[in-house]
Amino acid sequence: MFENRSYCGDLRTADIGKSVLLAGWVDVKRDLGGIIFIELRDVSGIVQVVVDSSASRGNAEIAEKLRSEYCILVRGAVKKRSDDTVNPAVETGEIEVVADYIELLNESVLPPFPIDSRNAVGEDMRLRYRFLDLRREEMRDTIVKRHTLMQITRQHLSDNRFFEIETPILNKSTPEGARDFVVPSRINPGLFYALPQSPQLFKQILMVSGFDRYFQIVKCFRDEDLRQDRQPEFTQIDLEMSFITQDMVLKVIEGLMVVIVRELLGKDIDVPFQRIPYDEAMQRFGKDAPDTRFALELFDCSDIFRSSEFNVFSQALADGGIIKGIVVDDDGRLSRKMLDDYTEYVTIFGAAGLPWVRYRNSSLEGGIAKFIRDDERERLLANPAMKDNSVILFASDRADVVNSTLGNLRVKIARDLGMIDEDLLNFIWVTDFPLLEYDSEDKRYYAIHHPFTAPVAEHVELLDNITPDTVHSIRAQSYDIVLNGSEIGGGSIRINNPEVQKKMFSVLGISDEEAQINFSFLIEAMRYGAPPHGGIALGLDRILMVLLKKSSIRDVIPFPKTQKGQCLMSAAPSPVSSAQLRELSIKVFEK
Ligand code: AMO
Repeated sequence: MFENRSYCGDLRTADIGKSVLLAGWVDVKRDLGGIIFIELRDVSGIVQVVVDSSASRGNAEIAEKLRSEYCILVRGAVKKRSDDTVNPAVETGEIEVVADYIELLNESVLPPFPIDSRNAVGEDMRLRYRFLDLRREEMRDTIVKRHTLMQITRQHLSDNRFFEIETPILNKSTPEGARDFVVPSRINPGLFYALPQSPQLFKQILMVSGFDRYFQIVKCFRDEDLRQDRQPEFTQIDLEMSFITQDMVLKVIEGLMVVIVRELLGKDIDVPFQRIPYDEAMQRFGKDAPDTRFALELFDCSDIFRSSEFNVFSQALADGGIIKGIVVDDDGRLSRKMLDDYTEYVTIFGAAGLPWVRYRNSSLEGGIAKFIRDDERERLLANPAMKDNSVILFASDRADVVNSTLGNLRVKIARDLGMIDEDLLNFIWVTDFPLLEYDSEDKRYYAIHHPFTAPVAEHVELLDNITPDTVHSIRAQSYDIVLNGSEIGGGSIRINNPEVQKKMFSVLGISDEEAQINFSFLIEAMRYGAPPHGGIALGLDRILMVLLKKSSIRDVIPFPKTQKGQCLMSAAPSPVSSAQLRELSIKVFEK
C-alpha cells in the first residue's frame, strides 16, 4: 500500500492535478469545523493536507482524532492554494493536498516537547528523546547534510582513484596520545582488544600492500576528556597515498574541500589555502590552530621591556619568560568590568594577571601606564595596530603560558566585541611542526603528531644526538588543516625506512622489546619495499560543525554522547551481569 509514495516536501505547482500518496507525521492540526487542516511532515519537509468533512464523513472522523506526531497515510489531489492562503515561508506553500483517503498508521503519546518548537528545549531532554529531536527541521537538515558530505567525499575520492578499504575495529592499541577503549576477548581470557583511535597503522600497511590511494570514512574511539569539539567516538575521513609529497597531499585535500563547500553551502572557496609555519602561528596567534578571520595579533614586547621598572615584567624576563601584548582597537567598548572578567578568565591558562594600558591623546593611561617609561612608550606606539583609544593587554610568563593566554583571549575578545565576520571561511595549513617535544616532568620526548611521522629529510640525523635544548629544531613533514580556528585535520609524510622507525621508537623511550610486541608487523612490513607514503585524517564531525556554524559537535552527530560520555537515550554505558563478567574472566574493583 506504500508503493508510489510521494514526499511531502517535494510537491510543487508542477504537481497540480496529480493524485499523490503521502505518509508521515502530523506536525500541526487545525480543526475549523467543516474543514480540517493537517501539516503533514516527512523527511523531505511539510505539506498542507485539507480534509473536507462534507466530502467524506469517514475521513473526517479519522482526522478529528489526530494529534501531533500521529503517523498517517494520506491520498489526495494536489491543488493550487487560493492567492490569500499561499504561504511563502514554506517551499510547498503554493499548493495543498485535498485528501480523499486517510488512514491512521499509529498513534503517538504526547511528546515531551513540541517538534516545531521555536523555544529552546534543554539539551538533556533532546538527547533523552533523540528520536523526536531528529524529527525537528534543524536536526533533520543537519543529518541530511552529513549524508551529503559523506557521499560527495566518497564520489570525489573514488573519482580520483582512491579505494575505500575497511580496517579492523577490534584492534591492538595505536599510540595516538589518548587512552584506549578496550574490549575483553572471551575466548582469550585476560586479553583485550583496543578500539581504534585511528586506522593509522593499517592504512600504512595498505600502502605496503600496493593500494596506493586509500580512504575510509571511519569511526575512531578515544577515551579522553570531552569538550565542545570532541566526542569519544567520532568520524574521520581518513586518507593515505603512496608516491606522494606534502604538496601533493595538500592539493588533494584542497580539491576535496572545494567540492564539499560548494555542495554543502553553495559557496566557492579560493585555493591554495594560505600556509603558515608552526613557529609563525605561535608567534602571531599564540596557537597552532589560529583563527585568522580577524587580526588582534600577538606582538613580542620582551625587548621593549628588557629593563622595565614594572616588577612583574622584569621578573618574568629574569625567569627566562617572555612578554607579549595584543592591541585591541575597541572604540572604548572594553569596560573596567570586562577587563576584570578577562583577568579572571586568563587564570585558566596559568596567567597571574592581565596588565593593560590605554593609548589616548598620544599618551598612555590607566592600568600599568605609570610603570612605562617614555622610551618604552615610543617603541610600543610604533606598532601599526595602535590607534587612538586602543587598549594593550599584556601577558608575561613562560612562553607557553603567554601564548595560550593571549591566543585564547584574542578569540574571546573578538567574539565579545563582534569582530568576527561569521560568513568567512578561512582555511589555512599549519606546516613545519616540530617533530617532538620534551616533557620536563616525565623527562621524556613525545611525538607532536605520532611516532610514524617522518622528520624533514635533512633532520633525520639529528635524532642521534637529541637533547631537550635541540629538540625544537627537528622539524616534521607534517601539516594540520585549520578552519576558522578549528583543527579539522592533520597528517604527515611517514617514515618508510625500518631503521629510522626504530630510531624514532627509541627516542620516544619505547624499548626494543615493547616495539617488538606492539609494532613488529609494521617494522616487518617496512622491510618489504615500503613505498614513500603519507596521508591525513579529517575530522568529519568538526568540518560539519564549523560549516554549519554549530556551537557543539553533538549537534552534528545523530546519537552523540554527553560530556560525561553517556548516551542519554540508550543509557550507555551500563553495568553488565555478573554472569557476563565471569564469562569474560573480569572482576570489577570498586574505585
Ligand atoms: P589526529 O589525531 O590529528 O590524526 O586526528 C585527525 C582529526 O580528527 C579530529 N578529531 C576529533 N574529532 C572529534 N572528537 C575527537 N575526540 C577527535 N580527535 C580528533 C580532528 C583531528 O584533526 N592518524 C592521524 C592522521 C594521520 O596522520 O593521517 C590522526 O588520527 O579534526
